[in-house]
Amino acid sequence: MSVSRSPKSGTDLLSEIAPDVERLYNRHLEAPRLWFPHEQINWGEGENFADRPWSPEDYPLSDGVRSSIYVNLLTEDNLPYYTNTLLAQAPQGHPILDWNHQWTMEENRHSMVMRDWVHISRCIDPTYLEEGRRVQMHKGEVPQPTSMADLITYVSFQERATQIAHRNTGAKLPKDDKMGRNVLALIAGDETKHYLFYRDLALAAFAIDPSTMMIAAARQVTSFAMPGTGIPSFTRHAVRIAREGIYGLGQFLKDVLDPVLSLWDVNHLAGLTAEAEKARQDLALFLAKMTETVERMAQKAAGATPAIS
Ligand SMILES: [Fe+2]
Ligand SMILES: [Fe+2]
Repeated sequence: MSVSRSPKSGTDLLSEIAPDVERLYNRHLEAPRLWFPHEQINWGEGENFADRPWSPEDYPLSDGVRSSIYVNLLTEDNLPYYTNTLLAQAPQGHPILDWNHQWTMEENRHSMVMRDWVHISRCIDPTYLEEGRRVQMHKGEVPQPTSMADLITYVSFQERATQIAHRNTGAKLPKDDKMGRNVLALIAGDETKHYLFYRDLALAAFAIDPSTMMIAAARQVTSFAMPGTGIPSFTRHAVRIAREGIYGLGQFLKDVLDPVLSLWDVNHLAGLTAEAEKARQDLALFLAKMTETVERMAQKAAGATPAIS
């Protein structure tokens, strides 16, 4: 029988994890991704909207792909509020502060380069986009994990989810939109590196305080929401994006939760408190139900699609 380790206070976890933050930050810096937003854009292809107003025929796309570009770009726009949330868990003098600044600097170029491509390619109505940006940024609505353990588990899932969303959107663009495919691949590459930082930081935190991390992981999985909930008509867009096969419950389960939770090895953690053990069981139950739902949805979709022989 294993003996449970008492959970540490939030301050203890923060100070004990400092060497891992430094290690993973240095690993991040050792493989820099030095791409320049202005070099990714074919500026000569642009036209003034005053001379030729936007029309959907400028760039024919399915509703799902258009919704995905719209939601993904507005999500990147909301960066100031995410930084604010991260800084709330970062005391002065802690290496996580340096990481937060690096992360913010890298994230900032995503909305820049994406919007340049969107405006040049005319894949989204620029007025609709700007109206969405104004509404969302005025709200400043973002997830607010209340502890370091909750924050690093949430961001691990979120960075992975964002990477999948950008990657799958890029794959749905027309083959001849090399600019758009390249822009979304570059962003997805950055998200991959951010995901690896948080995933491995969380892994280190599981070794320091498995009970607190188990409870936080269960809480964050069962309440997970993508960061763009402040976007006007978010649910309508999210449904379209899921129907298009870009990002939905199936991707969340198979591409986000399965790989992350198995890397953290949550099924074999030793020394959990009774509360953490209960959280692990609740999580397993939640995942089993989600798997059933995803399978049912897949069967329904397969039944609705005529077989092609
Ligand atoms: Fe991003
Ligand atoms: Fe990100």
